[in-house]
Amino acid sequence: METKIYDASTIDEAAELLKAGDLIAFPTETVYGLGAIASNDEAVKNVYKVKGRPSDNPLIVHVSDREIAKYVAFVPQQAEILMEAFWPGPLTLIFPMKEGIFAPTVTAGHNTVALRMPDQEQTLELIRKTGFPLVGPSANTSGKPSPTTAQHVLHDLSGKIAGILDGGETQIGLESTVLDLTNAVGPIILRPGAITEAQLEPVIGKLAANAGTANETEAPKAPGMKYQHYSPTQPVILIDGTTADWKAAIEECHDQGKEIGILASEEKLTAHKEAVRATFSLGPKADVTVASQRLYAGLRYLDEQPVDVILVEAYDPNGLGKAFMNRMEKAASAKYPKK
Ligand code: TXA
Ligand code: MG
Repeated sequence: METKIYDASTIDEAAELLKAGDLIAFPTETVYGLGAIASNDEAVKNVYKVKGRPSDNPLIVHVSDREIAKYVAFVPQQAEILMEAFWPGPLTLIFPMKEGIFAPTVTAGHNTVALRMPDQEQTLELIRKTGFPLVGPSANTSGKPSPTTAQHVLHDLSGKIAGILDGGETQIGLESTVLDLTNAVGPIILRPGAITEAQLEPVIGKLAANAGTANETEAPKAPGMKYQHYSPTQPVILIDGTTADWKAAIEECHDQGKEIGILASEEKLTAHKEAVRATFSLGPKADVTVASQRLYAGLRYLDEQPVDVILVEAYDPNGLGKAFMNRMEKAASAKYPKK
């Protein structure tokens, strides 16, 4: 199958393909999603198949407006307030599931369903033209970094899907915050993203617990968070330390005969680029927004370079930095210095 590129002028054709049960990847403000009509079980099964996604990991359903009462068992008051405050935007909400609306494979056996309204006019238009919400897991091969350009999607899924709606580079670069509103203990962040705890708490009050905090092991998680994720083929080492630690890590890799790639801030690259084979800049250290936007492109770029190991730089794990570090830590197979 030839994977065609669509844009605003050919969006009708993309919508027709979705209606016929084909898969079309679409841009969002976070990462590209792999779209299929959420009521078509065959199409949704195909989404799992082309991604190589474990069948126990449910999908996010993408809607084009806040009129969601028809899709879920009930809409908690907190959800109304959150949708008003953050939709369209990078916040996924978990609702109690309503039987017979979405294909059974969407929720992977759970009795809840995840909904989000992306902040991407072209994609909202695509959903409206299709006439029904679309599932949209990140449009990468399972386990690989999420795609932030149409080219990334082509790299992973060319020949396996009917098309890609090209919206250029995504703005945020990290997947949405996933917030569970169905837990008796209160709202829980299952996956950190660009909508932070500090933004949510003034709107709905104190959250119950958070993924990525000290008691992460006890906090319930999005099913998908248990898998190793976001990883290139080469081992990734997360460096959280001083200039001396960087020098020691580089020396240790060289002693083992390994070629090194570095994914780090401008400042770190300036200090160490002479000693390594390939680099990718995450921008100025003070700007975690730019670093987040570039993270997956950087992992993908270095994956294609002739290097044996990728060293990545730790950032302050607060605000957006929490989501950034959550993804970095999942991509990494080791940390330096070893603690
Ligand atoms: O920003 C995003 O959310 C992107 C764009 C394309 O919208 N999508 C995305 O989808 O990241 P995916 O499938 O790669 O990640 C969905 C996450 C997984 O960790 C999954 O386990 C969780 O959401 N999830 C989905 N349904 C859930 C449910 N009913 N309960 C708990 N977690 C759920
Ligand atoms: Mg994903």
